[in-house]
Amino acid sequence: MLILGIETSCDETAVAIVEDGRKVIVNNVISQIELHKEFGGVKPSVAKLAHEEVIDDLVENTLKTVNISFKDLDAISVTLGPGLVISLLVGFKTAKNLALLYKKKLIGVNHLFGHICSNYLESTLEPPFVCLLVSGGHTQIINVKTYTEYEALGSTLDDACGEAFDKIGRLLGLPYPGGPNLEKLAYSGNPNVFKLPEAKVSVYDFSFSGLKTAVLRLVEKLPEDYNKADLAASFQENVTNTLVKKIIFASEKLNAPKIVIAGGVTANQTLRKKLQELSPVPVFMPNLKYCTDNGAMIASAGYFLKDTIQELETMDVFAKDSSSVKLKASSRL
Ligand SMILES: Nc1ncnc2c1ncn2[C@@H]1O[C@H](COP(=O)(O)OP(=O)(O)OP(=O)(O)O)[C@@H](O)[C@H]1O
Ligand SMILES: [Mg+2]
Repeated sequence: MLILGIETSCDETAVAIVEDGRKVIVNNVISQIELHKEFGGVKPSVAKLAHEEVIDDLVENTLKTVNISFKDLDAISVTLGPGLVISLLVGFKTAKNLALLYKKKLIGVNHLFGHICSNYLESTLEPPFVCLLVSGGHTQIINVKTYTEYEALGSTLDDACGEAFDKIGRLLGLPYPGGPNLEKLAYSGNPNVFKLPEAKVSVYDFSFSGLKTAVLRLVEKLPEDYNKADLAASFQENVTNTLVKKIIFASEKLNAPKIVIAGGVTANQTLRKKLQELSPVPVFMPNLKYCTDNGAMIASAGYFLKDTIQELETMDVFAKDSSSVKLKASSRL
């Protein structure tokens, strides 16, 4: 079964074709990072225009490069939310028009569900497992019971993990996005120089705003020429220790046979290595190219949702009221 996946929830215009939820035929991503750099974060109006400029050609070229035509596709899968509403609408309108024109089934996907499905790409992973979802806008521990049954056990009470990386990156004077740039800086730093606090929240929840304030206060007290690499490494050490500790605790509590991680922050090598070293159960993580937003994970999600969903109106698996497909807004600035 061939599914075309379209993702425009934030600052990547992404289109992919995936066979049977796992085999990536083609995966194209146009990143808007350079456009948003001058704003230090994603500017929604700029994101919308940039998606509109490239989406039609990207869809056409994605099919062309692998010699697949619309008649070969079984369905079209598109991100419905959460994300920037005006960006989401660009992808949704494109997918809807294509589905009507070529008479294809249209499958709406929750973006977070998509991130989890990035782990099925080019992999034999099967549920059940416990998942740590760490992205730019979300931080959750999710009990994944089957391909379509989930239970969120806890989440961040304030900033998302990727957001915390981005904010501290900005504080250190690094370009947007902070996460990957902070990781690069941290390589030359000592993670044990600065002792930073760990939030006291319940076992499955997270909080990063206290840590952010602690870093801010520390920087105010330090001399101007303080070692930024040491601070980046100490921050990264603190955050990754917390993430690893919590997901391992969750796996033990639930007796989960596997730990899975998903979302942009899982590109972080310190997190990946630490978890592999310390986890008592097998760890699954997305291929680096599928950690941040991409169309392949949305196509994969569409495949696993295809039989559970009959109508577009019941597509948001994460929505409390499943009859609602309202696009959820979340400002990232
Ligand atoms: N190597 C890295 N180390 C730490 N953080 C990283 C790394 N690479 C990316 N990130 C962070 O991941 C986030 C982007 O991930 P992703 O694309 O999943 O988020 P999003 O789609 O913007 O948010 P969401 O998925 O919650 O809607 C950014 O906050 C970025 O800084
Ligand atoms: Mg994302």
